[in-house]
Amino acid sequence: MSPGKPFFRQSAVWLGLSLVAVLAALAWRWPPDGREHAALAQFFGRFHPILVHLPIGLLFLVPVLELAGAFGRRDDLRGAAGFVLNLAAAAAVVAALDGWLLARSGGYSGPLVVHHMWCGAGLAALCLVAAVARGAFAADRGGWPGFVFIYGPLLVGAVGLMAWTGHQGGQLSHGETFLTEYMPGGLRAWLHVTAPPRPKPAAAGPAAAQTVYGVRITPIFNRSCVSCHGPAKVKGDLRLDSYAGLMRGGKDGEDVEPWQPAQSEIVRRINLPSDDDERMPNNGKNPLTADEIHLIEQWIAAGASDRQPLVVAPLSAAQ
Ligand code: HEC
Repeated sequence: MSPGKPFFRQSAVWLGLSLVAVLAALAWRWPPDGREHAALAQFFGRFHPILVHLPIGLLFLVPVLELAGAFGRRDDLRGAAGFVLNLAAAAAVVAALDGWLLARSGGYSGPLVVHHMWCGAGLAALCLVAAVARGAFAADRGGWPGFVFIYGPLLVGAVGLMAWTGHQGGQLSHGETFLTEYMPGGLRAWLHVTAPPRPKPAAAGPAAAQTVYGVRITPIFNRSCVSCHGPAKVKGDLRLDSYAGLMRGGKDGEDVEPWQPAQSEIVRRINLPSDDDERMPNNGKNPLTADEIHLIEQWIAAGASDRQPLVVAPLSAAQ
């Protein structure tokens, strides 16, 4: 680092660390509570999934520049590594703050988003610490043990934490099984990935997978309900992305009474007039068609099972 700028460097680091402390305080005091808040906060918050790519790209570049600089004896690349790391740290702080804005205002709740948020704050802090360490142990001025054994692990840790945090973010926006859904069976077993692939009508070959729930009901929930009753947002404490979640019910208890559609809260909700606050979906998007409502009612009247096979009546029987 050029000797003329230590004051600027120190102030920048302190500013960054203070912002991370502010973020931690905000996240602790006002965690995502599942309710939507100020529209303007949501507007800015929704840039978070775009913004995060900046620190991701920059941070991945740092070890590449360090290695290319060290092994290729290119001082220009090594100098650039420090500059890029500083940029990555600044971008991580901004992205993490914006992430809190989205989580808090966008109606998110549940352990996944909270975990993701703390990992993001931790990552911003780790980038800053790594940047400080890099400045403190200038390899060319005899500080190489610290450079290799302190800055090195910090950088590796930051890259690892970034991959993990980014993966959680991906799960939040694409669903928890997005990456593993089409994972080959052998790799799945080796990695102990238990999450079963999501039932896909087209892929459901054997008769066992051809259930009314899997083929007819799940797509309705996935389209109209899971955005608010899934891994990212758990409105009313109800998850509709799995059979177990559906049958467990929500904050007011069970929402499905097998054999009794008329007693089922879910049926009451989807039949309410569109101006009723309790009607589902309650955002006016992807409303259920009359056929879909009828199908859900029939499925509950038939016992609301996840085993009931999808029987296609043979043509001869109809005649
Ligand atoms: C835009 C977000 C949103 C969508 C989409 C949505 N819901 Fe909801 N849902 C909520 C909110 C918020 C609550 C909690 C407030 C309330 O009880 O009205 C809720 C509560 C519920 C409850 C009551 C849970 C309980 O036990 O208290 C049921 C049942 C329900 N929703 C079913 C559905 C179904 C079925 C769909 C899809 C057809 C759906 N929701 C789509 C936001 C949504």
